[in-house]
Amino acid sequence: MIVSTKKLFEHAYGKYAVGAYNINNAEQIMGLFRGNMDSKAPFIVQLSKGARGYTDQRLLEAMIRAADEIFPDAIFAVHLDHGDEETCYDCIDSGFYSSVMIDASHEDFDENIAITKRVVDRAHAKGLVVEAELGKLGGVEEHVAVDEADAKLTDPKQVEEFVKRSGCDSLACAIGTSHGAYKFTGGQGLHFEVIEDIARLLPGFPLVMHGSSSVPQDEVERINAAGGQLKGAKGVDEAQITKASKMGVTKVNIDTDGRLVWCRVHRESFRDTPENFDLRPAGKIFMAEYAKYIVHKNEVLGSAGKLDEVRAFINK
Ligand code: G3H
Ligand code: 13P
Ligand code: ZN
Repeated sequence: MIVSTKKLFEHAYGKYAVGAYNINNAEQIMGLFRGNMDSKAPFIVQLSKGARGYTDQRLLEAMIRAADEIFPDAIFAVHLDHGDEETCYDCIDSGFYSSVMIDASHEDFDENIAITKRVVDRAHAKGLVVEAELGKLGGVEEHVAVDEADAKLTDPKQVEEFVKRSGCDSLACAIGTSHGAYKFTGGQGLHFEVIEDIARLLPGFPLVMHGSSSVPQDEVERINAAGGQLKGAKGVDEAQITKASKMGVTKVNIDTDGRLVWCRVHRESFRDTPENFDLRPAGKIFMAEYAKYIVHKNEVLGSAGKLDEVRAFINK
């Protein structure tokens, strides 16, 4: 059942975080739904602009609708990840999405607010909620590549004014993470003091953590042992994710880890069965392995086992 992102946040806030997983194809969709069913967790299916253009957004949306039928017990929201204004309007008008993210974080403060407010007005008129971003994450996003030197943590002094003037419903904050597989060069981690300050200034307001992949080291080692060259890849410590999930971080965005599972499964398959040319054996392994990853991640987020409570909360 496709539900409102807002409802998922209301149930989760301060207790656990909802996993927001990026998908691009049928195998990811099957693995994602199976994993969430296996761990009885609510979740967010997240589509980037790149994912919508990879095959065709209509194909992706039709597959999500089909997954909803195949897994009738699933409770999930459908979200546009890192939208520009035009893509946000497209998703809002499509009637399919629960929420959109307008990412104008590369603009200055006032322009970010102005753009976000326009999207909020259109979204709210159609019953959707809006995630906005304040601060600058490092790494590569859809339409912006942010140099590490230009990355900027969210300034807690700006958050109240930003939320009030823009009317956004959740806030993506830069709290030390970045997108991709190379987040930290050393022992850096989340800036809990920033999360704490923001959560104090915006009590009950859902915060979103982008760049939350933990880049499992065994995954990286297996990829490299099968011919990959991921040198020094490093992600967010899982204990830190669990801690943040209880401090107001209510949506945790994960894409890279899913790509790593895909990469490991396919590299090992090519290495171990060089005579094979059928796409299905590796595809089947990927779906099962991705589902296993999702089960584990939902334990880390605290969303595992929450499905029945969420169903009762939504139906009350
Ligand atoms: O934050 C970006 C997400 O990982 C989506 O990546 O734009 O390559 O689909 P993508
Ligand atoms: P990762 O690159 O850490 O998976 O982050 C994904 C993300 O933030 C999607 O919006
Ligand atoms: Zn992101």
